[in-house]
Amino acid sequence: MFTNAPVYVDTFIGPPSLPNPHVFICGTSGGGKSVALKTLTARNIATTGCGAFFIDIEGEYTNLTKMLGGKVIKITQGESAGINPFDIEPDINGNKQFLNILDKVAEIRALLATITRNYQGRTLNGTEITEIEIIVNQLYAEKGITSDVNSLFERKGGKLDNGKYAVGRIPKKMPTLTDFQKKLKERGKCVELAELLVPFLKGNSLGIFDCESKINSESDIVSFDMSEIKDEFTKLYASFVILTWIWQKFVLKNKDKRKIIVCDEAWLFLKYQESAEFLVNVARRGRKYNVPLFIGSQFIDEFLNSEERKNYN
Ligand SMILES: Nc1ncnc2c1ncn2[C@@H]1O[C@H](COP(=O)(O)OP(=O)(O)OP(=O)(O)O)[C@@H](O)[C@H]1O
Ligand SMILES: [Mg+2]
Repeated sequence: MFTNAPVYVDTFIGPPSLPNPHVFICGTSGGGKSVALKTLTARNIATTGCGAFFIDIEGEYTNLTKMLGGKVIKITQGESAGINPFDIEPDINGNKQFLNILDKVAEIRALLATITRNYQGRTLNGTEITEIEIIVNQLYAEKGITSDVNSLFERKGGKLDNGKYAVGRIPKKMPTLTDFQKKLKERGKCVELAELLVPFLKGNSLGIFDCESKINSESDIVSFDMSEIKDEFTKLYASFVILTWIWQKFVLKNKDKRKIIVCDEAWLFLKYQESAEFLVNVARRGRKYNVPLFIGSQFIDEFLNSEERKNYN
């Protein structure tokens, strides 16, 4: 029966009604994918009060985000975005909280492999994989950051170095890509990879994410506008880092709040095996945390044929 009544899909309803919270929309260019994603997300926000994060390749979610009272973060090539891929927040295992440094190693490895795939048409070699693992662990260890959640903080409040006083606990500064690249270079085993990372360092053309995080996670409706980035690889690199960051800063940090991650134009991730695996990982973790991943893509073949899709049940 045709009623004209709006359709609501509660993606948080969970099993047995909905064993998997994710939504995949595909269709030809101009077929209405983005409009459908916006409508679905906005109605979910209206009915469940959830948060939403838009990985916005084309800058087409700005109006919606503003209408919903959210925050738009514009990502500009060559400028610091205030987003650090080395940020880490407590994960949960059963009812125990811990810092998942192993997951962070895997994330950084996948990110760097995506870079070598793009620039050198190859994945990481054994030495690089080992070095990444050692260095990421060292970077956190040097700051005294371990699996213990309390190790994220310097100390309880009190007088700071600048003479001001702080109340509550003071978060430690996280490592940055510069710290990572410096160590990689110093250790001398992966000179090629260290060289390859130079453009990604602060002040260079791709140094968007070589910085401490400056954006706070107060708003829970945020779009990351990448419309000013012109080339496909930089859009993929930015989407990758932003997705890892959303996970740490918004999903892990505020577990009780319902939220949706919207990734329009997700076919970008399927370009390389490592970025595709990363997207599958986000979907897996999303199912565990009941965080729906809304995906839009013009290209269905890449999704149907990818090994990662076949491995994801
Ligand atoms: N349900 C709808 N009713 C009326 N118009 C619609 C509907 N869905 C989409 N449109 C219109 O169709 C056009 C294209 O929609 P949209 O941007 O969502 O397509 P798309 O599939 O995301 O395209 P692309 O692959 O290029 O990103 C828009 O101008 C939009 O206003
Ligand atoms: Mg679209």
